[in-house]
Amino acid sequence: MTAQQGIRYDARHVNRPEHYVAKQVRTAVFPVAGRGTRFLPATKASPKEMLPIVDKPLIQYAVEEAIEAGANRLVFVTGASKRAIEDHFDTDAELERALTDSGKDDLLASIRNIVPAGVTCVYIRQGEPLGLGHAVLCAQPAVGNEPFFVHLADDLIASEPGCLSQMADEYERHGGSVIAVETVPPENTSSYGIVAVDEADGNRITEIVEKPQPEDAPSNLAVVGRYLLAPEIFDKLETTGRGAGGEIQLTDAIADLLQDQPVYAYNFSGVRYDCGSKLGYLQATVAYGLEHPETGEGFWEHLREVLSVSGR
Ligand code: G1P
Repeated sequence: MTAQQGIRYDARHVNRPEHYVAKQVRTAVFPVAGRGTRFLPATKASPKEMLPIVDKPLIQYAVEEAIEAGANRLVFVTGASKRAIEDHFDTDAELERALTDSGKDDLLASIRNIVPAGVTCVYIRQGEPLGLGHAVLCAQPAVGNEPFFVHLADDLIASEPGCLSQMADEYERHGGSVIAVETVPPENTSSYGIVAVDEADGNRITEIVEKPQPEDAPSNLAVVGRYLLAPEIFDKLETTGRGAGGEIQLTDAIADLLQDQPVYAYNFSGVRYDCGSKLGYLQATVAYGLEHPETGEGFWEHLREVLSVSGR
């Protein structure tokens, strides 16, 4: 059952405080202002979130995951050269007419139902690239005083149900905030927010640090790009100064928040692809290409051939 279908009450969830009623998470924030310099020149004039995995752009996978988890308000925090994202989620009457006239019903359906009825898109400009924390703070007027998701489209997660749905279920159990994590090789801690948790207290986070060197890291449990945050994070972000890399870091605001209220680390089930890196992007393309009904079979054959020719 997803959060969209309502709040679940289950006697098995003994950790839930008495009288606790979770608020449904209706809003998802997508920080999409970053320039994607790791993918230049591809991202010179088009957003990195529009890079396709087979036939859908990364941002569409993100939106589908959020809608599946119950979100009906999608807030995009955008920046320069991101117009294509707005266009992608808008209707295109001319293209729809052309596809209707030529009887291409499948293609018509694929562009018509990207944002279902009842789901609203809101676009907010992040005037200056001051960091992820600043981007999330920019979304505050559209989020209001409610818990909300933050989804980083670079991190593509293949899972059933989606990672945000899993997190919404987790949140229903105990409230607070929930952050998706996975174990990374210790030498990679400087690429992630890193947490320490109290396993005896349902993986409650006791410490979180942005991109520590391995020798300073409290563990090798890394934050991936999925957050379910209590609205009190905005009060923290108001006063968060510049941190790692000179940016206003969401991680630092979370470090502040966990002094006041519980923030849980959630080990999601699924496979994450770091599509902000070339290798991760190619890995995702292979995984999704092999599963895709149109390309799967032919792609398998091609890969077998390539691998046998190269002698691997
Ligand atoms: C951001 C966060 C970091 C997190 C990562 C997940 O970093 O600041 O804490 O671990 O996303 O992808 P970025 O990758 O934007 O540098």
